[in-house]
Amino acid sequence: MPSLQNILASYNDRAPLSEASTIPAPWYVDSRIADLEAKTVFSKSWQMVGRIEQVEKPGQFLTANIAGEPIVAVRGNDGVLRAFYNVCRHHAAAVVAEACGQANLLHCPYHGWNYGLDGSLKGMPEFDGVKDFERQQNGLIPVKAESWEKFVFVSLDPAAMGLREFLGGLVEQVAPLGVSKLHYFDSRSYDIACNWKVFVDNYLDGGYHVPHLHKGLSSVLDYKEYTIENEDRYCLQSSPMVASDEDKATGATRKGDRARYFWQYPNLMINCYEGYMDTNLVLPVDVDHCRVIFDFYFADVSEAQRAYNEQSVAVGARVQDEDLGICEAVQRGLKSRAYGAGRLSVRREAGEHLFHRLLAADLKAGVESMAAAAD
Ligand code: FES
Ligand SMILES: [Fe+2]
Repeated sequence: MPSLQNILASYNDRAPLSEASTIPAPWYVDSRIADLEAKTVFSKSWQMVGRIEQVEKPGQFLTANIAGEPIVAVRGNDGVLRAFYNVCRHHAAAVVAEACGQANLLHCPYHGWNYGLDGSLKGMPEFDGVKDFERQQNGLIPVKAESWEKFVFVSLDPAAMGLREFLGGLVEQVAPLGVSKLHYFDSRSYDIACNWKVFVDNYLDGGYHVPHLHKGLSSVLDYKEYTIENEDRYCLQSSPMVASDEDKATGATRKGDRARYFWQYPNLMINCYEGYMDTNLVLPVDVDHCRVIFDFYFADVSEAQRAYNEQSVAVGARVQDEDLGICEAVQRGLKSRAYGAGRLSVRREAGEHLFHRLLAADLKAGVESMAAAAD
């Protein structure tokens, strides 16, 4: 069995796109890589955990899981958004069990310890006589929380750069689109038998697969004019739109002058048409499985628009179903002895190249810092 160092060294992150290969197959199938990603990529980056309107008012909270860590984000009485490990300091139960809600105190269901909205430990039943216990030292452990546009982000890394710095040029790209005026409508969740990076790669192939796999979507995109721009930690794939009645549901629900597909490293996609946005959050489950959560937003979520919005979600779901089978086939192929790595289309696959280089940089830095810590 090759060492982790050898697996990492087998990818050349300095090759220009025209000479580059994909990250090699073991990166998608070896659980040591998945463990390393949890410790580095997902523990160091900013991760989207929910929507800003879920934590708008004091006491509103939402829970999430990042790299296996239970997290709760909560709006304080002082209006400040905070996040904590959702782990009771008594015997480690999840203090908040619901996905989201509102409360005056965070009340652990196990033995009734209470924490304030600022994470401070407020009360412990039947705890008199316990020696050398400092209530002030036993609040919930904080993690970084910030918001941008409609989204709440958390970073587990105490040394993380600010969210805006992390998002880089994405902030300016998304600002003119007015997505914060859109309203959340519905979600869909998909469990897929593939490594999370297979889903990201499929997203980042610059429309390469669209004419082959997504005939309906293909009918509204001017495929030849499709552009791919890499900057910082994001890739913008964009295409002019063309009117089409080839596929009525797609033509009616995917409109505007351009389709814009943003990917932000490592696992967030934001897809925008006129009056429409969906986000895709790709969560690793294990080395062979991921869960992808789609959130759909529309300009108008009134009852009168419901049927239209539902039709629009159904169009998104159909595209997703078309991707699902291919992603699972790729995962099986990556396990085959017949496959090692593949080349990239210069015209189409610059986004994947960016993804693989960012990932390689994080994994290699992670291994080096762990080795230094062990010395
Ligand atoms: S584990 Fe939370 S009160 Fe005991
Ligand atoms: Fe696709």
